[in-house]
Amino acid sequence: MAGKGNIIQRIKGVKDILPPDVSVWQWVEDSARETFESFCYSEIRIPIFEKTGVFSKAIGETSDIVEKEMYTFTDRGGESLTLRPEGTASVVRAYVENQMYNPPSAKKLYYMGPMFRAERPQAGRYRQFHQIGAELFGPEDPGADAEMIHLMMSIFENLGVEDLTLKINSLGCPECRPVYREKLAGYLDSRREELCDNCARRVDRNPLRVLDCKSHACGQIAEEAPTMTDSLCGECKTHFDRTRALLAAVGVEGKVEPRLVRGLDYYSRTAFEVASGALGAQDAVAGGGRYNSLVEQFNGPSTTAIGFAIGLERLISLVEDKGGVLAPELFFIPLCAEAEEKAFLLARNLRNDGYLVDMSYGGSLKSQLKKANRASANVAVIIGEEELAKSIALVKEMKTGEQSTVPLDELTQWLDKHFMGEE
Ligand code: HAM
Repeated sequence: MAGKGNIIQRIKGVKDILPPDVSVWQWVEDSARETFESFCYSEIRIPIFEKTGVFSKAIGETSDIVEKEMYTFTDRGGESLTLRPEGTASVVRAYVENQMYNPPSAKKLYYMGPMFRAERPQAGRYRQFHQIGAELFGPEDPGADAEMIHLMMSIFENLGVEDLTLKINSLGCPECRPVYREKLAGYLDSRREELCDNCARRVDRNPLRVLDCKSHACGQIAEEAPTMTDSLCGECKTHFDRTRALLAAVGVEGKVEPRLVRGLDYYSRTAFEVASGALGAQDAVAGGGRYNSLVEQFNGPSTTAIGFAIGLERLISLVEDKGGVLAPELFFIPLCAEAEEKAFLLARNLRNDGYLVDMSYGGSLKSQLKKANRASANVAVIIGEEELAKSIALVKEMKTGEQSTVPLDELTQWLDKHFMGEE
């Protein structure tokens, strides 16, 4: 036996998702797909890695992600590449590169998959984690903001996840945000000495980020800071109010959180996060917002956009366990070589008919029945030399132990009758 020291272990902060847990993942992904489709969103599959500039340009050079969390490496050709820390930048890159703005209609896209951030691992925070996300390109109307938030909340609702807090804010536009930024920087400058070292440096470069700092001292200072909500221009205020009115029309209540700034630089106007008290310190299960200048920044035509991403690990910890081991309906137990060939053929036909079929390979009848039991099979189909000679199978219902003799050429009809109630 190999000692523990000899076993190669996975990297810190990544997880294996094993059966039966994986069935909960599949159930959540399937349900999300259905919800996306009901809102007419199509799937986009973007690469796991990109040129580093895709992310540094979109997410912002002074963001935590770009400053210290990206998995960046130089490939053999000397190019700097990065494992995607999020999906939005890649979707924008793909939108522009593939000219998805032609014809110019709203483009509604969703994606699912792994993301990578070199954060300090802790409960609910991983270095490889998964997101379910959506991006909507085109409409600038507050209806798009409300649709996006409603879509996100519908994913939670359809999974039976409750007790969530939707926090919503407006980060203003190129008109009113710089004015607010100045006001905030002035205020923070007057209290620079009380800020943590990191934030003291950020006052000039990115004062909004200070509002997001988790340190107690900075939190207190942020509490008393002027708010963006109070500094919105007329158009931004109307946009924000209309978004909330449309959300109210579908019963989605958002709590206005004037200090919500989000950790990525690309947002303007609507920004939102969803938190759950059941998650502990890492309580954000989803986040998103409007980003009106990214497409242009990627040299595409001026196109506004909005999106969100849900953290799958965190979401899964909130859903009631709907998974379980995939149990075979039929479990073939062939007792000789010839019977095995027959069982292979029957199993193929029954799989094609939609049955979940497993099979045992070798061993005594007793040990194989034990395997069927352990797999939680509904029915064992036993074929030995004697049965084969008579062209029959012994069909044993595992729960009741009831046994029937069924002619092989009537097996499918017999099973259909027992399983589907078909005559
Ligand atoms: P984000 O807030 O950085 O937004 O991430 C969205 C969600 O991903 C978080 O709320 C959290 O649930 C999950 N998440 C983030 N980092 C980790 C981690 N290290 N471990 C586990 N879960 C994590 C975005 O990524 C934006 N791209 C969302 C967006 C789409 N905005 C517009 N469109």
